[in-house]
Amino acid sequence: MKPIVVKIGGSTLGSHDTTLEDLVELQKQGKSLVVVHGGAKVTTEWLARLGIPTSFVNGLRVTDAETLKVVTAALGGLVNKELVVAIQALGGKAIGLSGCDGNLLWASVKNPELGYVGEIVAVDPTPLKLLLNAGYMPVVAPVSYGSVEGKVMLLNVNGDTAAGEIAAALAAEKLIFLTDVDGIYDSSGRVVPKLNLAEAKDMIASGVASGGMIPKIEASLRALTTTKVVRIIDGRTPRALLYDIAGRTKQSQLRGTTIVPE
Ligand SMILES: Nc1ncnc2c1ncn2[C@@H]1O[C@H](COP(=O)(O)OP(=O)(O)OP(=O)(O)O)[C@@H](O)[C@H]1O
Ligand SMILES: [Mg+2]
Repeated sequence: MKPIVVKIGGSTLGSHDTTLEDLVELQKQGKSLVVVHGGAKVTTEWLARLGIPTSFVNGLRVTDAETLKVVTAALGGLVNKELVVAIQALGGKAIGLSGCDGNLLWASVKNPELGYVGEIVAVDPTPLKLLLNAGYMPVVAPVSYGSVEGKVMLLNVNGDTAAGEIAAALAAEKLIFLTDVDGIYDSSGRVVPKLNLAEAKDMIASGVASGGMIPKIEASLRALTTTKVVRIIDGRTPRALLYDIAGRTKQSQLRGTTIVPE
């Protein structure tokens, strides 16, 4: 069975959110699921708490050596373990890992101005396949590693990028981004129900999609080399994930944006 890859946005988990319940329910139904999480919010909180200043280049956060430690601790540690514990508390079977574990994600630095930020160059999905075959839901923190000036070290990777690459490597059934908006908005602020690859690229080129939506669209383009469909939906809506995977046709239950190759 082809897995479904679910990217959980750091901003979505809250009081009305049923994402973790939905994941456990879907696992009980026999679905094969891989979770990839973000966590910019928690990382920012810890950087502030530790008094580590953040610098930006063209609006993008720079990951210096100190920030890299906090990112690794916050995402690979706290956020990842809290998710695993919460899933298990609900009766699910989960194992947390990062992109470093089992050589899952190998990255390299594309823009040195951003510091230790990795672009993924290779994915070895073996650890995910082993866990899925054993009935576990892998929960992946997008911390990765790679060679920087001849030295192998940890690298900070965007969660959306990691999800897209993992979906591509697994030839996933579907890639679902759970985020804090209804879907991709057009220039008049309405959710676009469906986009093909070319139209999705245009959303970036025209500037209609910006900020956190850009890596989602770019990751979708990567995923769609093998994955049939990408969905961008509001993770704060109760049962969003369950309805999406069940393919409910009622408009009120199936909002969001679908991206397909053609
Ligand atoms: N055209 C667009 N349609 C919808 N959202 C957009 C668009 N352009 C930019 N955005 C922004 O993208 C954001 C979603 O990305 P964001 O990175 O903030 O969340 P996330 O990826 O779900 O969480 P995290 O980064 O913590 O994992 C929206 O809240 C919105 O501000
Ligand atoms: Mg994001």
